[in-house]
Amino acid sequence: MKKTASQFILFLLLIITCAADAQIVATDKQQEEKIHALIGQMTMQEKVSLLHGNSKFYVSGIKRLGIPEWALSDGPHGVRAEINRDNWAYAGWTNDSSTCFPPGTALAASWNPKLAYKRGIVLGEEARYRKKDILLGPGINIIRSPLCGRNFEYMSEDPLLISKMTVAYIKALQSKNVAASVKHWLANNQEENRGTIDVSMSERALREIYLPGFKAAITEGGAYTVMAAYNKFRGDWCSENEYLNRQILRGEFGFKGVLMTDWSAAHTTVKAAMTGLDLEMGTDVKDYNEWYFANPLIKAVEEGKVPVSVVDEKVANVLRVMFNTKMFDEEKREKGSMNTPEHQQAAYNSAAEAAVLLQNNGNLLPLHFDKIKSIAIIGDNAIRTHCGGGLSSEIKTLYEITPLQALQKKFGATVKINFAQGYEKQSTFREGANSGQANSDKIDWKLIDEAVRVAKESDVVIICGGLNHDFDTESSDRQNMDLPYGQDVLIREVAKANPKTVLVIIAGSPVKLAGIVNRVPSILWSWFGGMEAGNAVADLLSGKINPSGKLPFTIPVTLEQSPAHALGNFPGRNLAVNYEEDILVGYRWFDTKKIQPQFPFGYGLSYTKFLIGNFSVNKQTYGKDETIQAKFTVKNTGNAYGGEVVQLYASDPVCSVLRPEKELKAFEKIFLKPGETKTVEMRVKVADLAFYDETKKAWNAESGAYILQLGNSSRDIFRKVTISVK
Ligand code: BGC
Repeated sequence: MKKTASQFILFLLLIITCAADAQIVATDKQQEEKIHALIGQMTMQEKVSLLHGNSKFYVSGIKRLGIPEWALSDGPHGVRAEINRDNWAYAGWTNDSSTCFPPGTALAASWNPKLAYKRGIVLGEEARYRKKDILLGPGINIIRSPLCGRNFEYMSEDPLLISKMTVAYIKALQSKNVAASVKHWLANNQEENRGTIDVSMSERALREIYLPGFKAAITEGGAYTVMAAYNKFRGDWCSENEYLNRQILRGEFGFKGVLMTDWSAAHTTVKAAMTGLDLEMGTDVKDYNEWYFANPLIKAVEEGKVPVSVVDEKVANVLRVMFNTKMFDEEKREKGSMNTPEHQQAAYNSAAEAAVLLQNNGNLLPLHFDKIKSIAIIGDNAIRTHCGGGLSSEIKTLYEITPLQALQKKFGATVKINFAQGYEKQSTFREGANSGQANSDKIDWKLIDEAVRVAKESDVVIICGGLNHDFDTESSDRQNMDLPYGQDVLIREVAKANPKTVLVIIAGSPVKLAGIVNRVPSILWSWFGGMEAGNAVADLLSGKINPSGKLPFTIPVTLEQSPAHALGNFPGRNLAVNYEEDILVGYRWFDTKKIQPQFPFGYGLSYTKFLIGNFSVNKQTYGKDETIQAKFTVKNTGNAYGGEVVQLYASDPVCSVLRPEKELKAFEKIFLKPGETKTVEMRVKVADLAFYDETKKAWNAESGAYILQLGNSSRDIFRKVTISVK
């Protein structure tokens, strides 16, 4: 009797599951039929009108068929303010001040995909409030060099960390009926000559390092749109690259959405059309009808150079994204909201969890403000706002709290705050030219002397230094890794005057810290922190929040240590760059070559201590299609609540090809009360231990031993287990 009942339930479940599957297929099928029917009613003129911009950020609809205009907006970390339709000036709207999150490297530094998810939700709600259909983000290019101007917008040197953040972000954003646009496809790893540089790399580097983030974005995140990069890849522009766009994106990843150009990155009509580009945006030609995918495309069809079926395929891709984001079903569509307290809280949480405590000698931090009488706050970054910089990712934020404002507000009533600027911003932002950064190393002794004076008068010193968006910016790279404006000298002199000096670094990419680590006891890297930056910094310094971020990239001692620079392959020569370091990007290079960096990938301290132990795996030997279940415990052995990011790396000590010393395979952020212990399980597919075998043109997990290494940075490994694969 019992058995029959459970069999019946099973049977019911089966029917329900099959019915659900059938429904998915049916709606997809119905949708495809609708798309087909719509295309059937269009003239060639109408079809083509859907394939190019009709202004800076809009694409025409077809009124008579009920197809709405498409609205795009920039914004990996906030919805960009409204730009005029026909020029780049801001439109001056009064309802477009948005929530500004800390940019990409800060998100990755939290190592918490839940924050990426929350960010996606907020961005989706704000984009819908602004009636946007596509948000141009996330930006997920690999951080290959410390100097790339857009590092701050991107996430990491590691493809797994990028993938986890990206998938969560996209799923959340698209759940609000806003299409993501993953960018920049592919290998936009420098800004210098970005519009002309021809990138080459081995097939293995492509597969192991540069593709995985995009693959995850499409196959797991389900990204509806992709933005083709400005640069060339192996001789062809990314916007008309048969291998990237037809073979990999459409063929291997099964991408059924829209591939658009970056702004003004289209170069031809026929070749781009035939190789899979769908949408042309931003072309610098006044008459929109003259764009490559406008009248010239109609002409190419008439001349038989582009088949009608190819145009129809593009139109279908456009309509599919419209259906998926409920553009034909406004009633059911997300209505959106703007700058709610919940959105602002999400921006704060993101900043608070991103900060990385790099050094804390003598436990100078957290500062006990109840016992401090006076504090010196020094540095231009204590008073500078950053949300409005960086170029296309700049945000007109509703507000932005600076560190000085927050410290004054939170502690100013009981602590005397002595501010000194310390250094002056000597650079100016100039689009497309690093010259804006020139002459930015003058030492201003007047400002330094004043800073030294306030440092001497105060119990404790906080220097807020680092970079700003004249350096961390789209359209130009940095010239070196140095802290600009004579900050090295300022820090040296201030620390001499008052050894109780905390350095807060506000920057989105690596800076040289070699001369500094021995001079100041404590360094907190707080990134560009978005609208709540100052509040987060103040709460981190006071210990209200315990730092739990980890570096998403390696900080080298010198620029020459890092792979692309060690090999002299940045930014290339004669408009070509070969990624000679191959798969050895970031920590893969430093660890394999046994080069001691300043601070390793994955590194970050806490105000408490954690013990990672009891590492075990469920089996000793695995088949190639099995999954490894790794278990361990984490204990908070200190006396503050805190979060630890446990990282699981793998290495393949005997292999027919060079493998990196170790590669990140899984990670988890765990929050614990003092004394609390948690058991954590991580799963790694044996298939994910494979390398890309160029001879077989396939992934290959060779039989033999693999070492799984558990730690809290690529250089702090506490436990190792050897497994074998048969
Ligand atoms: C950037 C893109 C951006 C686009 C539109 C380009 O210069 O590379 O990331 O989305 O402009 O502003």
